[in-house]
Order: sequence, then structure tokens, then C-alpha cells
Amino acid sequence: MSFPARRLRRLRRLPALRRMVAETRVSVDDLVAPLFVREGIDEPQPVLSLPGVVQHTTASLVKEARRLSSLGVPALVLFGLPAAKDPLGSEAWNPDGVTQVALRELRLELGDAMVLVADLCLDEYTDHGHCGVLTASGTVDNDATLELYGRVAVAQADAGADMVAPSGMMDGQVGAIRAALDDDGRAEVGILAYAAKYASALYGPFRDAVDVRIAGGGDRRGYQQDPPNRREALSEVSLDLAEGADIVMVKPALAYLDVIAAVRARFDVPVAAYNVSGEYAMVKAASERGWIDGAAVALEHVGAIKRAGADLILTYFAPELAEMLGD
Ligand code: PBG
Repeated sequence: MSFPARRLRRLRRLPALRRMVAETRVSVDDLVAPLFVREGIDEPQPVLSLPGVVQHTTASLVKEARRLSSLGVPALVLFGLPAAKDPLGSEAWNPDGVTQVALRELRLELGDAMVLVADLCLDEYTDHGHCGVLTASGTVDNDATLELYGRVAVAQADAGADMVAPSGMMDGQVGAIRAALDDDGRAEVGILAYAAKYASALYGPFRDAVDVRIAGGGDRRGYQQDPPNRREALSEVSLDLAEGADIVMVKPALAYLDVIAAVRARFDVPVAAYNVSGEYAMVKAASERGWIDGAAVALEHVGAIKRAGADLILTYFAPELAEMLGD
């Protein structure tokens, strides 16, 4: 009887052996926590389709950010929900708008302990729920929207954002935002670009979290990427980098691991991945029914996202993972 010279099971025998040869490690340093702040509420409001996630008041937001920081999470990405919406989404660049107020408060209370990333889009602020302004015929006007994104970027930077994260998928958005920031003397503020953001069915719970309904049952297929396309993601990333992006992101994460790997292989910049709301909600729902071990699956999922090549992971599991990974 012949045996293989090398028996792979030898290195799997003990936990310490497995740790010694692990190729991928998830650390709390990899995590970015998405947080929601809502104007005009006195108490945090739970989001039913995202168990454990709430719409924060400014005060509860600061408290949660402090907790995350003490757990070692290096960054948060902030989404604001204004009390009033209009066709342009003008609260997005109001210096006293909900996101700007929250950013100022976070900066004041946390100092430089956490990287403050501001999501930069208009859909939370427009009454029609699209990521930009509409033309008379109802499509999203790319170039008119760019001008507004520039205003939002400046307002967020003035309020203390370290990075802005444009998520609207308008062509030229990174360049327009970079120029607006530089003209305002904000060269130090970075851009985390949602570069390859797909028109996914996995964003449903997020839209509950931000109270966004797209007018007329519409969708974002006219501006977000079409799921079958991988090469197109490389074009998106390469344009965003040419326009000045500092970090590029693939979104969603788990259904697009091949895209993460392709971006990692091609570009030598930090790659982020967004483990989105639907990916989180599925794990939570199955876990609540006792069908899977939610914590173990969450770890396996972020491990897979790292193994595919992401350097940082935006995930609603950040608080739980930070607690698990912390000791
Ligand atoms: C748009 C935005 C969306 C998400 C982040 N930014 C939703 C969309 O494009 O409709 C989704 C995040 C998630 O599902 O967790 N501002």
C-alpha cells in the first residue's frame, strides 16, 4: 500500500497548528461599522429587517461610536436620515443637516479615535428616492447630480468627515468630488469610492433602515452595475482611481467575491467590500430560527471576503465581530 508523501491532515490536528498555518486572518482592524442617524427622534428606533441595527439619535450614535472605538473598530460609515426630503435632496449639503450635525458631534466627542467616513449620496434626501436629480422625463441627470455631490462633499468635510464615500454610481463622481474638495482647501479628505456597486436585490433591508422608497416602484439599474458583468467592474475601478479615489469598494461582497479577487489582482490600492444589509439579514433570520449558527457564519463570511482579497469590510456584524475577535 502506498501513502502520499505529504499528508495534509498533519497540519489540521490541533487548534494551535491550524492557527500557525492560517493563510487569512480577520482582525478588528479590518472592520468598518455602518451607522444610521435620524433627525427628529428622541429614542433610537430598531430596524425590523436588520436585527440589532438601529436608527440612532445623535446622542445614541456618539455612544455607539465610543463603544465601537473601545472595541478597537477603526472606522465607521455614517448614513443620515433627514426629517424633510425634497426633489434635489438639499438637506444633504445643509451645514445644519442631520449628517453634518452628527459628524461635528462625533468629531468633538471622539477626537481622532475613529476614521469618520460619510456616505455621500442623495437617495436618503430626495423625495423620489433616486441617487440624483431627475430630468423632466424622470431619468437621473448625471452631470447636474455631480454638481450637487460636490456641495455635499464640502459640507461633510467642513463638518469633520475624514473620508467621503460616494455611492450614487454617477459617471465622473469621484473627479467632481475631488475637485470640489480641493477647491475648498480639503486636500486631506479622502475618497472611499463605491466603484463597483451592483444593482442588487440585497439592499432591501438598508432601504428600510433609511426609509427610502424609489418613486413609482423604480430601480437603479440605469446607474448601478449590471450583476453579470465583471470586466466592467475593472473599468469602473480604473476610472475612479484615475479621478482620485483613495480606496475602491466592491458591493455587495459575498455574491461578488470574484469581482473582489479581480480588483485585488489588478490594482495596488486598498480594496474595500460591503457586506450589505441583505447578506446580514439572511444570516440573522436563519440564525433566529436556529437553522444556522449566526456568529460562526458571520466569521466564515468575513473570512471569505478577506480571502478573496478585501482589505477592509463594511459590515453590520462589526460590533459582534469586534467582541468575538477582541479576546
Ligand atoms: C445608496 C446606498 C445603498 C446602500 C448603501 N448606499 C442602497 C442603494 O443603492 O439602494 C446599501 C447598503 C446595504 O444594503 O447595506 N445611498
